[in-house]
Amino acid sequence: MNSGSREALQVNQAAGLQNLFSAAQASHREELPIFHQAANLRPMVQHRRTTRTIAVAGGKGGVGKTTVAVNLAMTMAMAGRNVMLLDADMGVANIDVQLGLNPTRHLGHMLEGQCTLQDLIIPAAHGLKVIPGGSGVRRLAKMGNGEHAAVIRAFDDLIQPPEFLIVDTAAGVADNVAMFAAAADDVLIVVCDELASLTDAYALIKILAHDFGVRRFRIVANMVRQAADARKLYEKMARVCGRFLDVALDYMGMLPHDEWLRQAIRRQGAVVDLWPSSRAAVGFKQLAGAVDTWGEPAYPDLGRIAFFSGQNVPAAGW
Ligand SMILES: Nc1ncnc2c1ncn2[C@@H]1O[C@H](COP(=O)(O)OP(=O)(O)OP(=O)(O)O)[C@@H](O)[C@H]1O
Ligand SMILES: [Mg+2]
Repeated sequence: MNSGSREALQVNQAAGLQNLFSAAQASHREELPIFHQAANLRPMVQHRRTTRTIAVAGGKGGVGKTTVAVNLAMTMAMAGRNVMLLDADMGVANIDVQLGLNPTRHLGHMLEGQCTLQDLIIPAAHGLKVIPGGSGVRRLAKMGNGEHAAVIRAFDDLIQPPEFLIVDTAAGVADNVAMFAAAADDVLIVVCDELASLTDAYALIKILAHDFGVRRFRIVANMVRQAADARKLYEKMARVCGRFLDVALDYMGMLPHDEWLRQAIRRQGAVVDLWPSSRAAVGFKQLAGAVDTWGEPAYPDLGRIAFFSGQNVPAAGW
């Protein structure tokens, strides 16, 4: 991007982004830029970890981040994987309520030294392990970066690290979201067919790219009617990110709008468990299947605060 277009973006970024995401732009069928160089930017670190961490984020509230995190985690658990789900929407965390769990402690107790992360683990259906984030606690809503880092580093001390850690993040683009997303191996961005969803997702991707060095994002379109709509949402994101950011975006498919999801919340269960044949459940199974094809993660740079970084062992030792 030349300096002129960068300045133009900064002058009126919100309006400019909205134009870029507008239907008129969407109908313009240009070749999507592919940023192969992104893979080369991150130094290859000869380390390997046993846990893969996937952060679910989106920028905008209500796009389905928690729904995706819960059902992706449950689908993988139902397939026999060892999965842990961290509710990192601290202060208004509600995964425990959604899954009918009754935790007596949350991350706030751990930060106060009253218990360890291990003590917080609550078993859910199919062996899924949940770490509750805590709700209605002012201290959790006001956590600073040192405390976010403490939560991330606490995972190094788990006695039995899971195969997968799925992290549900809060709405917005503040440090509580960015730190947890940047600490994961993969960032799954949930978007829906609303302009604000696309602009907020872009804002989050921009912060993660510029300030945290995250170069790869996986996009899933939620609450869409058909695959073609999901593809269009991805293409809009890819076009704008490709023009202004040095990042790679991967298309992760669609999750249909499905009323059974709301029914599942009323029943305090996951739709993939309660109604495994529903359209939503089929979508989550496809998403979970895609995770298996992701290959080795690009390990975060040494020095970055990352989940399970204490698991690092020299590749030669394997
Ligand atoms: N594919 C879908 N079909 C129908 N309803 C959905 C779908 N995805 C999410 N919902 C509903 O949308 C609402 C918001 O979903 P969810 O809580 O997962 O969003 P969120 O992004 O985590 O919100 P927040 O930013 O507040 O944490 C919920 O009532 C949920 O049941
Ligand atoms: Mg949520």
